[in-house]
Amino acid sequence: MELDLTHIPQHIAIIMDGNGRWAKQRGLPRTAGHVEGVAAVKRITEECVRLGVKFLTLYTFSTENWNRPAEEVSALMGLVLSNLEEDIFMKNNVRFRVIGDIKRLPDNVQQRLWQVMENTADNDAMTMVVALSYSARWELTKAVKDILWEMKKTSLTRAVMDPEEITEETIAQHLETYFMPDPDLLIRTGGEQRISNYLLWQIAYTELYFCDTFWPDFNEEALRTAIADYQQRERRYGKTSEQVQPKSNN
Ligand code: IPE
Ligand code: IPE
Ligand code: MG
Repeated sequence: MELDLTHIPQHIAIIMDGNGRWAKQRGLPRTAGHVEGVAAVKRITEECVRLGVKFLTLYTFSTENWNRPAEEVSALMGLVLSNLEEDIFMKNNVRFRVIGDIKRLPDNVQQRLWQVMENTADNDAMTMVVALSYSARWELTKAVKDILWEMKKTSLTRAVMDPEEITEETIAQHLETYFMPDPDLLIRTGGEQRISNYLLWQIAYTELYFCDTFWPDFNEEALRTAIADYQQRERRYGKTSEQVQPKSNN
């Protein structure tokens, strides 16, 4: 797949779906699909670094996924723990970050996440963001609470923040994703055409791409196909086509 390397999406977000069905098709337990899904994470991360993507945000475990059978939840936590390989992040110069309600995760997983975040903090080829115990409605609810707490605290020091001072930027700065730009491209594998509570605020103008491939089968070629599709699109942000087309020189 020929790509325009000058027009690579800066931020790609992925809903990695279809692990369970991939396993079922092969008569394997769902967990086998998650294990194979980890291999896909590694190849896609490396390909994104090679292509010059700056942020890759992977939906790994949603708030709603806590309602899955306990054995599956604990297998997923085990996979997170055993696959946070610092040497791979260092080799690829990748900074690791987490978004989500990490306090709900087992203590040993939390500790490991903080450790890897700290040790990779200076890497700057790409930031890989893992959404764990994350949902957009949880995130927005938390942002509202945080803003109100700040107003309450500043009111004690008499520097009352006026509600009229709240802007879109204030909200964005209180989201888990405050440190990165909005996604340019959102990919969902596995055939479903829904968002499942992912990055609702941030995808206001993101290009959406859905494919039937189950996540464990998603490879470099499939990623390039998604990026090529993105490169065909015209992002108008509410304007007309004439407004966004660069003027020709002749
Ligand atoms: C995505 O695959 C991984 C997680 C949600 C943890 P699924 O486990 O949802 O796979 P399907 O959708 O059942 O095939
Ligand atoms: C979305 O997949 C969450 C992740 C990929 C982590 P789900 O499989 O949980 O989504 P639904 O239930 O099909 O909407
Ligand atoms: Mg699913």
